[in-house]
Amino acid sequence: MKKTPHLFLMCPPEYFDVSYIINPWMHGNMRKIDNALAKQQWRALYDILCDRATVRLVNPQPGSPDMVFTANAGLLRGKHFLLSRFRYPERQYEEPYFADWFMDRGYEVTYMPRDVPFEGAGDALFDRKDDRLWLAHGHRSVLAAREDIRRLFKVDVVPLQLVDQRFYHLDTCFCPLSRGHLLYYPPAFDPASRKRIEELVPAARRIAIEEEDALQFACNAVNAGDTVVVNRASRAFVEALARAGYEVVQSPLSEFMKAGGSAKCLTLRLDEN
Ligand code: ARG
Repeated sequence: MKKTPHLFLMCPPEYFDVSYIINPWMHGNMRKIDNALAKQQWRALYDILCDRATVRLVNPQPGSPDMVFTANAGLLRGKHFLLSRFRYPERQYEEPYFADWFMDRGYEVTYMPRDVPFEGAGDALFDRKDDRLWLAHGHRSVLAAREDIRRLFKVDVVPLQLVDQRFYHLDTCFCPLSRGHLLYYPPAFDPASRKRIEELVPAARRIAIEEEDALQFACNAVNAGDTVVVNRASRAFVEALARAGYEVVQSPLSEFMKAGGSAKCLTLRLDEN
């Protein structure tokens, strides 16, 4: 197995559960998590990533069942970490734990103003080809986050408006890949945002996926080198990615889907430069 220089942050699912409802996937899933299965699925993803990258862990906390979704901790680049301001109070308890983890390790932690909801790398993704950050607003993060991000990271920020409740974070429907491709589900965006994507990413590098794959969270992919790890994918998806030079690894994450998350949400890239 080829080890990449990538570094990820994950949080063990010790206290993972669906104990409140803040996205459509959670409906009907209150207390319906099979904990043993969740642990097994999380461990399988962890093992796949450990083979290809380095994984660091943050301690899970009782009362913060969604803390497993480390993608939402904040946005990181170099030694700068911009802490998330969760939209819903249920997840705001996570903020100090993530702040401490990064502070204890020497990162420069910046706080987004309290009145500016921003959910980190769930809604803000660096392009892998150009020096650009894609920022989603519409469900969890707000457009006003743009200025703070631009000032801190000195990066061009491209706003994208999300319009489908099921795809409430950018990383549920959009994934820039290592070789410069963009994996995305166009109907999750408003027409102006779709146009912006098409203007900035040439057709040859865009991989638009179908609803069937989108609903299996195929865009919620962890990309390490040429490997793309997803919950589940159709044959068409696997073939399209193979043509573009990637190997798809499927690792079932049904228990986390019940909370509205999958592979990418369970990780945060720590080697953004
Ligand atoms: N239940 C969590 C929430 O609604 C899931 C978060 C998934 N994370 C992500 N980056 N898409 O906030």
